[in-house]
Amino acid sequence: MENSQVKAEQGLLFDSVVAPMTVTDFFKEYFRNKPVVIKGADNKFSDVMNWKLLSDILNQSAIWSPHSLNLYSNTRAISADQFSYPSLTREGNEGRLINFDQVAEHVKNGASLVLNDIETLNPGLKSVAHAIESTFVGKVQANLYCSRSENQALPVHFDTHDVFAFQVEGSKQWRVYGTSVQKPINHHFFKSIDQSFHEANKGELSIDEELTSGDFIYIPRGFYHEAMCHSESTVHVSYSCVPIIGIDLLTAFFDVAVKDELFRDAIPNPDEKSGKKLEEHITRLVGRMRNNVLSPEFQEPFKEALNNYKFDRFSVKLPDDFV
Ligand SMILES: [Fe+2]
Repeated sequence: MENSQVKAEQGLLFDSVVAPMTVTDFFKEYFRNKPVVIKGADNKFSDVMNWKLLSDILNQSAIWSPHSLNLYSNTRAISADQFSYPSLTREGNEGRLINFDQVAEHVKNGASLVLNDIETLNPGLKSVAHAIESTFVGKVQANLYCSRSENQALPVHFDTHDVFAFQVEGSKQWRVYGTSVQKPINHHFFKSIDQSFHEANKGELSIDEELTSGDFIYIPRGFYHEAMCHSESTVHVSYSCVPIIGIDLLTAFFDVAVKDELFRDAIPNPDEKSGKKLEEHITRLVGRMRNNVLSPEFQEPFKEALNNYKFDRFSVKLPDDFV
């Protein structure tokens, strides 16, 4: 496939995102295996995000709060009271709204602007979310990072999801290292790891490349990385994709176990008959769980949940949908 522009269109295929690489090669060589940079023409992602589109979504000022809009200065979050003020939200709850004059001042002074969960805010962002979601099983969300001068929003870190990042304006230096924790997940055990551990265990540098507008980088879950801006003004959009994992199967089984008397029964005292009763009981539980999880009654709905493991994103077309 030629290296064409990624269009904001329903049914967008992941093929155009990774072109000129084929999706087959992407799966074979890189997916869940190793990071890769794919260079693209300057305007490859300009239908997804550009300065005008970014201004348009920011100008929907009432949708932003310190939850969805953050500022970072040299890897540290700037306190929300420095760029927001107490107000009723759109939902009528007490909260905070953004003071965009203060945001602009922080960014002028070198801070990075981070927008969270923006994947539905324009047709291009939504199209790419759909393309990723329909190719890989997982829940997809997008964040945007914007800076005006040399700054690093986040310190070296790994993510607990696969990263699909698109450079849309300016340039950014990306460094990707190795892994120290295999398949990390969004859990306190992984989130509480000290930054000094990350620095000491980031492994060997495998990618050190300047991404310019139109370039794409894929980073599998768990690979250490950091991004540093060089150019005066830079924007990238980063999509995350969270798959269903083995622990989700245990969670699904929990609902089955609740309805099963054996799993509601008390665990025998370990001292009874030198622990034999306990061993027998655990053997019965494990056997019941095995039979249950392998049964069609469990497997069919689980497979269906797997196929539908994505966020609902409705598309309304007016006036047709209202007549
Ligand atoms: Fe990251």
